[in-house]
Amino acid sequence: MNDQRGNRDASGDLVARDARCVWHPYTQHQLEAAPLPVASASGARLRLHDGRELVDAISSWWTCLHGHGEPQLVEALRAQAARLDHVLFAGATHEPAVRLAEELVRRAPRGLSRVFYSDDGSTAVEVALKLVRQHWVQHGESQRAVFVALECGYHGDTFGAMAVGDPDPFFRAFEPLLFRVERASIEAGALEALVARLGSSCAGVIVEPLVQGAGGMRMHAPEFLRAVRATCDRHGVPLIADEVMTGFGRTGELFACAKAGIEPDLLCVAKGLTGGMLPLAATLCREPLYASFLHADRSKAFFHGHSFTANPIACAVALASLALVDERDTPRRLDALGASIERELAAALGARAADLALRRCGGIVALDLPGDSSGGGAGYLSTRALALRALAIERGVLLRPLGNVVYAMPPACTSAEDASRIARAMLALVDPGR
Ligand SMILES: Cc1ncc(COP(=O)(O)O)c(C=O)c1O
Repeated sequence: MNDQRGNRDASGDLVARDARCVWHPYTQHQLEAAPLPVASASGARLRLHDGRELVDAISSWWTCLHGHGEPQLVEALRAQAARLDHVLFAGATHEPAVRLAEELVRRAPRGLSRVFYSDDGSTAVEVALKLVRQHWVQHGESQRAVFVALECGYHGDTFGAMAVGDPDPFFRAFEPLLFRVERASIEAGALEALVARLGSSCAGVIVEPLVQGAGGMRMHAPEFLRAVRATCDRHGVPLIADEVMTGFGRTGELFACAKAGIEPDLLCVAKGLTGGMLPLAATLCREPLYASFLHADRSKAFFHGHSFTANPIACAVALASLALVDERDTPRRLDALGASIERELAAALGARAADLALRRCGGIVALDLPGDSSGGGAGYLSTRALALRALAIERGVLLRPLGNVVYAMPPACTSAEDASRIARAMLALVDPGR
């Protein structure tokens, strides 16, 4: 059956066609329920073909910053597509990319002055790792080949990003193909001892500042980040801050690094960079790192690029999103939203809040259900998460628990009513009879 726009509107038909030819990410097709047939979205809500509406409590994999279909972003997209849709970014440049680089440098932690564009969080991380590694090679320290990362870290699904991520539970099969990475627990002394032990073989340190997302919304104190910074300074190795999830206000500050008062040597951003409307990523670095690639020998250039590097439409949408972040003070809004969800959960849970490790950083609120081990372990793969997802959908909310970790990270436009609906859905997962 076709609607007025010629789309098939029968959700059953869409789902059946999907089942015949589509392979979804992070999906066990033999076990999981059919995908939600989404017809449209606006603000914090997704509309399904069958008429149901769901609150997008996880900002569509942490991308949607302001809300779906934000008119100013739609207009920026439309206008830029008509002016310049795409052009290669090697040997050419354009206004949206230059302006966006200027705006990112202006807002980023001090010292980050160069912007290298890529496509998504994983590629922003690949770029950071490759820049650091090539820098050492070109400076006669090619023995520096071991990166230090944190236990339960996640940095994406491409090979370099998998290598620095915790192998459990997703990446064990690829282990023989991944380069050597040493992992420290979130403890300043452990990280210092590890970097000291590696000595001149250490290439750099990569962290998700303040919140480790996919590892189970694990939150650490700003003091730990400051200690990581001090360790990197002491041993002369670069600190890479992966703010793919935390960037653009999720922690209540524009960047988690700013919240912790540290300045990384490299910064990876993606997801919320375009307000979640289009894929775009950037890796920011300091001027000396950039300058270290300048050479009369062409082979010393950074040979990395993607077909859609600095796509003008994505850059224009990112500029419109940054303008909204300023205009609306999005970090403060997200913080207030997170606080309201946390308050409702805390009031309903009472003394159990502590047992469930109810926690919040800005607009990110999480708790651990008793039972399975947490997000980074085998619990992530239990079918319980699927049942929990279904239960939340029955309550009109899209949640995607990470194993036993139930969390919310809604877009900034989420109304008080929808925030309360999110809190009630989370409570229903704690007490299914609720
Ligand atoms: C901290 C972090 N880094 C990198 C990535 C990878 O980003 P993408 O999925 O856009 O490749 C993610 C994705 O969730 C992330 O949370």
